[in-house]
Amino acid sequence: MTIGVDVGGTKVAAAVVAEDGTVVSETRRDTPADDVSRTLQMIMDAVEELAGAHQVEAIGVGAAGWIDAARSTVLFAPNIAWRNEPLRAELADKFGLPVVVENDANVAAWAEYRFGAGRDVESMIMYTVGTGIGGAVIMEGQLIRGAHGIAAELGHLTAVPDGQVCGCGRRGCLEQYASGQALVRLGQVAVAHVPATAPILTQLTGGDPEKVTGPMITDAARQGEPASVAALADIGKWLGLACVDLVQALDPAVIVVGGGVVEAGDLLLGPARRAYVDGMAQRGQLPVAELRPAEMGNTAGVIGAADLARSR
Ligand code: BGC
Ligand code: NA
Ligand code: ZN
Repeated sequence: MTIGVDVGGTKVAAAVVAEDGTVVSETRRDTPADDVSRTLQMIMDAVEELAGAHQVEAIGVGAAGWIDAARSTVLFAPNIAWRNEPLRAELADKFGLPVVVENDANVAAWAEYRFGAGRDVESMIMYTVGTGIGGAVIMEGQLIRGAHGIAAELGHLTAVPDGQVCGCGRRGCLEQYASGQALVRLGQVAVAHVPATAPILTQLTGGDPEKVTGPMITDAARQGEPASVAALADIGKWLGLACVDLVQALDPAVIVVGGGVVEAGDLLLGPARRAYVDGMAQRGQLPVAELRPAEMGNTAGVIGAADLARSR
């Protein structure tokens, strides 16, 4: 068995995972995104708890940022305060086990490829829609990591030239238009300026835009609230448009969309599919990759990280 750890903007999840992808035991910690020493402490605590109770042979970590080619250091993370964080060395020193550090979206995609929405294909692309937008490319059974380990940052491809400033320092990245943060911003605008289109959000937040959350928007959209339906359609449209260029470049069999927001189902994926299919120049003439929701939910990260640690 191996341990998989998933480090996001707001939480650390860790699990002991068996070879067939089954989670044997799992634990979670909340972590403030701006406190790096605390994030590290939470990772250590979670691993210690699991490693103390189970016989494990390696640790895999998925972290939300750019990881070096040696799979040891988090070079940069737009939504966590990590800069050149030597995560592998820190964990290996403490636990005396082999450690693999990998991008969080890459590990989630690996889990979907091995056990989930991509298990029937050899080539897939994945978007993870959360605080940020993660990306992963698996081609012909290989996770594509590139020359420096930092390939497939699909959330930081340009959606809008000269658009909104992004946490990565560029402008107009997809992440600014199709992430959970973008969704929340749309909900906030509705509550602040056109509450009549957002009666459910307005009621849930007491009219305070700062209290809007992504899950609230998904729930409200399911009940037909116009502003929430429109907000999901909006981020879906940007995702769908982004798929067009990627499909031209990579010709995957499927595009998997993951993250909590896929619970919105066709409220998100319907508009995404429309924008995607409409955007394909050769509409109807060529085979087109299918857009699918992820299947592994929020355990994808820990399962994928553990599997990559096994096959290190
Ligand atoms: C980061 C990625 C990460 C994604 C999802 C992005 O902002 O650049 O490395 O995979 O967020 O957490
Ligand atoms: Na990635
Ligand atoms: Zn960016």
